[in-house]
This record gives sequence, C-alpha cells and structure tokens, in this order.
Amino acid sequence: MPQEYRLILKYADQPGYTPDMECYLRHGGYEALRKGLSLPPKTLPDGKTLTGAEQIRDEVMKSGLRGRGGAGFSCGLKWSFVDRKSGKPIYLICNADESEPGTFKDKQIIHKDPHQMIEGMILACYANDVHLAYIYIRGEFIAGAKLFEQALREARAKNFLGKNVLGQGYDLEIYVHRGAGAYICGEETGLIESLEGKRAYPRIKPPYFPAVLGLYLCPTIVNNVETLCAVKHIVGLGGVEYAKLGTPNNTGTRIVSISGHVKKPGYYEVEVGKVTIGELINDPAFGGGLRDGRKLKALIPGGSSAKVFKAGEKFKLKRKGPDGKDVEKEFDMLDLPYDFDSLIAAGSMSGSGALIVLDDSTDIVKALANISEFYAHESCGQCTPCREGSLWMAKALHRLAHGEGRKSDADYLIKIADNIPGGRTICAFGEACSWPVQSFVGKFKDEFVAKGAADEERRAAKSGAPSQAAELTSAAGTSH
Ligand SMILES: Cc1cc2nc3c(=O)[nH]c(=O)nc-3n(C[C@H](O)[C@H](O)[C@H](O)COP(=O)(O)O)c2cc1C
Ligand code: SF4
Repeated sequence: MPQEYRLILKYADQPGYTPDMECYLRHGGYEALRKGLSLPPKTLPDGKTLTGAEQIRDEVMKSGLRGRGGAGFSCGLKWSFVDRKSGKPIYLICNADESEPGTFKDKQIIHKDPHQMIEGMILACYANDVHLAYIYIRGEFIAGAKLFEQALREARAKNFLGKNVLGQGYDLEIYVHRGAGAYICGEETGLIESLEGKRAYPRIKPPYFPAVLGLYLCPTIVNNVETLCAVKHIVGLGGVEYAKLGTPNNTGTRIVSISGHVKKPGYYEVEVGKVTIGELINDPAFGGGLRDGRKLKALIPGGSSAKVFKAGEKFKLKRKGPDGKDVEKEFDMLDLPYDFDSLIAAGSMSGSGALIVLDDSTDIVKALANISEFYAHESCGQCTPCREGSLWMAKALHRLAHGEGRKSDADYLIKIADNIPGGRTICAFGEACSWPVQSFVGKFKDEFVAKGAADEERRAAKSGAPSQAAELTSAAGTSH
C-alpha cells in the first residue's frame, strides 16, 4: 500500500503543533544545528582534514539531495560551484517565492514550521561560510513573512542567530525580504535583482551564475524552502542515511501538491520515486481518485509550465534488468514513478512537485488559454521572443476560447511556441511559456483544430460567406 512518508511535515499537522520556538524545541528542534556547529575536524584516510563546514557539505553531496524549487539540480554540486577564493562575502538566499501555479508546499512549511526552514538555512550558511542571508518571500505571503520575522526574533533571542552562534565563534544574520508579487521574482537571477532593489529582470548566464556573480556581484547560493529543510535532516541523519530514502539518484522525500479534479486535493510528502503518478491521483492515501463518474483526460505533472501528459500515453524508459544492464520498458503514464528522472525521460518534468489533474469535463482549449494568459502577463519583457511570443499565443488562445478561433490557430500556436525556447531567451521562462502550448496543442491537436473550424463555420454562416475551412475542404475535394 503506498503511503505518505512524513519527514519534513512530520509534526506540521499534528494537533497542538504551533510555529513558535518553544514548540519546535519540544520536538527536537535545533538539535541538528547543535550537532552541525560542534562537529570537530575530521581526518580522512588520505590524511586530508575536513572542517565541520566541509563535513556538512560532504554529507549534502553524499545525500544526493536535488533542489525542490523546480530544476532538480544537485544541491551538493551547486554548493561546490561557489567561488570561495574571490575574497568577497558569500550570500545565501532562501527562495520562498513559490509562484509556480499549482504549487502550495512551501507555504505549508512557512506557516506551520518556519523554524525547521531557518534551522536548515543556518546549517547551509555555516557550511558555506555565509554570514549574511535573506529569505525572499513572495509579496502575497503576508502572514508567512510575519511568521518568519517572529521566528527570526526567537532564533536571535536563543543565540541560534547573531554574534557567536551557540558559542561556536560563528556570526550570522538573516533578514526577510518581501517580493512585490511577480512570477519572475522566483527565477533566481530575477530574484537577486529584486533583492538589490531593482526590477526583477533576470540576468544572462554566463556570466551571471549566482555561485560566482550573484547578489551584489558576490558568490551567492539560492535554494528553495523545502531544499533547505532537507539540509537539516541530512545533518541530523547523515547523508548516507538520507540517501536510503527515495530511490537511486532521486533520494529523500518531497512534498507533492495535488490539485484539480481529484476527491482529495492537498499536499502529500512521499519518498521520491516510491509512488506512481496513478497512486498519487487515485489512492485513498493521496488524491483519492477522480470525481464520481469522471475519467482522466490529462495531467500536468510539475506545475503549470511542465509539459502535459495525455491519459493513456505510453512511454519507453530505460530500467536496470536482472543482469544490471539497461533494458527498455514500456510504462503507461499512470505507472510512471513520480521522480525527477522518469518524468524527464517521459518528456516532461516533476518541476516544483505539483500535479494538476484534469478530468474529461475539462475544455482543453480553455485550460491552455488560462495558462497562457498567466505567462503573457508575467513575462518580464526583456527578450523579444518571450515578450511577443507569449502575448501572441495568449491572444490566439483567447480568441479560440471565446468563439473567435481559426482552424489554422493550432499550427500558428505551435509555430510561435517552437520559436521561443532553445537559447533565444535570457531565462528559462521562455521554455516555461512554450512547453504548455507545445504539449497541449501537440497532444490534443484535434480539439484545437475542431474548435477553430467550428468558430469559422459559425462566423461564415452568420455572414453568408464560405469559411476558410469550408473553402479549403472544397478545394481539396475538387483536386481529387
Ligand atoms: C520563471 C521561473 C520561476 C521560478 N520560480 C521559483 C519559485 O517560485 N520558487 C523556487 O524555489 N524556485 C523557482 N524557480 C527556480 C529558481 O530559479 C532556482 O532554480 C531555485 O530557487 C533553486 O533552488 P533549489 O536548487 O533548491 O531548487 C523558478 C525558475 C524560473 C525559470
Ligand atoms: S525569457 Fe521572458 S521572462 Fe525571461 S528574461 Fe526573457 S523576457 Fe524576461
């Protein structure tokens, strides 16, 4: 029986569990911090000695932790890229923007267990020689920002922050910075610009890789809320123990937000790769199945920018055979393990860990029109393909969704979407706005074409003139 595995959300929903320091301490809070900050130097078999901070970095590398913010990049590797020789200060930023539609997992941590994130963040700062760090929280999370402010005050009062933390000779300050409510502020370089007090225009990489040229052009680490919580557990358990959770290369737990047409929308923490998409949708421990009498039509597996899956789709994925060699195995979409690698191999991604379930009552044209309107609104406008393309796609979809479509709109949409990604834009938003269009129109093309054709017919009948679609059909008929 598939089940939740609550590591990060272990206490969050227990009756009487509150977000204050006293409650957190009663539940073993800040023990991992005490452990991490008092690690004595360790000599390795090759004679090399690791400081406490280096040991934490080593444990994070061994844990296999991958970022929970969207890209699923190795946390240990990201930390290893930090320029430690520049002589400049190193900064750490917690990305609490949580702006990907369909995602509501960081919010649970922020509201119910802010000290857990702060403990993980202090450990990440200590491990990376950071003395000044920021929590960048989205503007709409007003209560969350207040909870973080309160938690930071409590942490300062207990000397988990400030000068000479826990008497270990380490100084750290963390500040909360509220965003003004824009999706692009979640993109790490846009976030950094915004934190510097400017408009959140993403920076071009290279040269502006945060690990080298981040905040105030100093080396900077940007990590998601959930990723930083995992750091606390890695220090507590040890990297190797943490890596036993989940599956190889997809270690640990992650919190999945399930929304849309299921009986039990909500957030569920699972071992990565130990449950399938079908279980997340249908099992009573998770989504609890579709609404009565409904069938699955589509699924967006990783927040609104992830490519959609169509019900019944099949994928060929490489798996290890009994002899350890790679063999190709066919998976129905519902049988895909919910992990980073399987979803990438199936042509989409687990992104921010947000499943959006669409049943057969969904008007797929309207669903995409809704998504595209969001992206057109949120493009920062720096790059022409993204600024213009996202708007053109939204306009074409708006007319299709409102009875003004054309039969040719499906091809028109694909043409625009294909010309935005692939190194033509400064940031990954270009991909994020194209993928939904490429996949929705690519996989449900008949619905888009039928809608456009019906709209043309209706307009033609009203005006008395033959529609473009009717003209084309009759032309095709005469040529045969
Ligand atoms: C358009 C866009 C929006 C993003 N929004 C978020 C967000 O709201 N929260 C987040 O943690 N990461 C977001 N990311 C990913 C961040 O750029 C960055 O990769 C992440 O914060 C790194 O943390 P991690 O390695 O712990 O996942 C976004 C990326 C893009 C391209
Ligand atoms: S891809 Fe879009 S959001 Fe990103 S920098 Fe360019 S215009 Fe802005």
